[in-house]
Amino acid sequence: MFDPVEKLMEFIRHPSVSADPKFAAGMVGAREFVVRLLGSLGFTVEVVPTPLHPVILAERGGDARWPHVIIYGHYDVQPADPLNLWDSPAFEPALRGRRLYGRGAADNKGPLMTHIAAVARLLARRPDLPLRITFMIEGEEEMGSPSFPAFLAQHRERLRKADFVFLSDTGSPREDQVVITCGLRGLVLADVEVKGARSDLHSGLHGGVLRNPIQALAELCASLHSPDGRVNVPGFYDDVLPVESWERAELAKLGQSEEQYRSFLGIPAFHATEGFSPFESARFLPTLEFNGIGGGYQGEGTKTVIPSKAFVKISCRLVPNQSPAKIRALLYAAIQDRMPTDVTFRIVDQHEGAPYVVVPPGRANTPKDQPAVLARAFRAADAAVTEIFGRSPLYLREGGSVPIIDDIKRVLGLDSVLLGLFLPEDNLHAPNESFHLGMMEKGMAASEKVLETIAAG
Ligand code: BES
Ligand code: MN
Repeated sequence: MFDPVEKLMEFIRHPSVSADPKFAAGMVGAREFVVRLLGSLGFTVEVVPTPLHPVILAERGGDARWPHVIIYGHYDVQPADPLNLWDSPAFEPALRGRRLYGRGAADNKGPLMTHIAAVARLLARRPDLPLRITFMIEGEEEMGSPSFPAFLAQHRERLRKADFVFLSDTGSPREDQVVITCGLRGLVLADVEVKGARSDLHSGLHGGVLRNPIQALAELCASLHSPDGRVNVPGFYDDVLPVESWERAELAKLGQSEEQYRSFLGIPAFHATEGFSPFESARFLPTLEFNGIGGGYQGEGTKTVIPSKAFVKISCRLVPNQSPAKIRALLYAAIQDRMPTDVTFRIVDQHEGAPYVVVPPGRANTPKDQPAVLARAFRAADAAVTEIFGRSPLYLREGGSVPIIDDIKRVLGLDSVLLGLFLPEDNLHAPNESFHLGMMEKGMAASEKVLETIAAG
């Protein structure tokens, strides 16, 4: 049995930034590392080409009557910039206290290594374990998984016969309070570009004659929310799933303090949606955010100019059962409607992903036809977490997005059990990302237990 921490360090040393072609060698290195590791555990490994970064499919077959679990993970990471804010180099893993630092340590190399190590330990102990396992590890998650839906469609017949997907690419609030994520928000992204005159103009010569594109864009942006904090796009909330009372109760058990959260954010007051606490807003409601806005003079001093162009980058987080295509259409219609006709504009589609929800067994809204193996997986995860982390897990929807989870549901018909292994202090996507080794050790034990219980049938 290999040392999981050593192996994780080796994994982190491959700089696998999927979004930046300069890191092509790091992508190859990380992929080959995983392929070798899974091969050494006796898996049949296939590297499936895609238009960009290949998917690793590794199989432990067996009797068709055995349960079959797919373990998902991603070998790519976010860019490490700004590099000067790291206390140790992003791709030179460093152990400080109980944390291993490095880009991708938490998202997603640490949690993925946790499951690989759990499988290694389990198979060493039970070489005849009656369980089929397929690792499905992609390299484009951090760029919106553009190749993944086609990959799923291509391997549909083979993969859809599995029973469920098991993964860790979500978080938990504390080391002693694990969350089993049962919902994810979706995403719709778009840029809006507004154009006034054919070039920048002297604001003295032409001021008062035409509408400034920054003004047009600012007025449009200001129209997209109402004072109560809701998104002001007609039809936006039509398909929002009502929150179940058990979900509110589960969230209340977290016992988070609004005052602490407020001061952590450094804001004078919350501006959440009426009728929802800030914690509820982040998990149960959709949003519309401006991720960036620009136009005109941004330099030192002053410049008396009427800019020719202005732009804004918009993203909506969606909740079940909103559809990305429908929300995109509603948003574009509102923009079209409200944009003054004395400027011209263009909307540029960016990527999108659907929201996801899975209801654990035994709840008021659990589907009557929930597959028995999925229900067993949830119960096994509950028991394993309770025993190993010392406290029952909470079942919460998450504010973040892992769009492929809904792709998997749609294309393969499979639900996912999402065991949250990263902590709020892990600095995902930020400088000094790290993974807590306590979560790794306990996560390994929990994963091992879940898989062994599923195998027991
Ligand atoms: N693992 C994260 C999603 C996540 C973050 C879940 C925090 C729970 C807590 C995932 O890798 C991610 O970063 N997703 C992106 C979207 C993706 C399409 C780039 C996100 O949520 O912004
Ligand atoms: Mn991520």
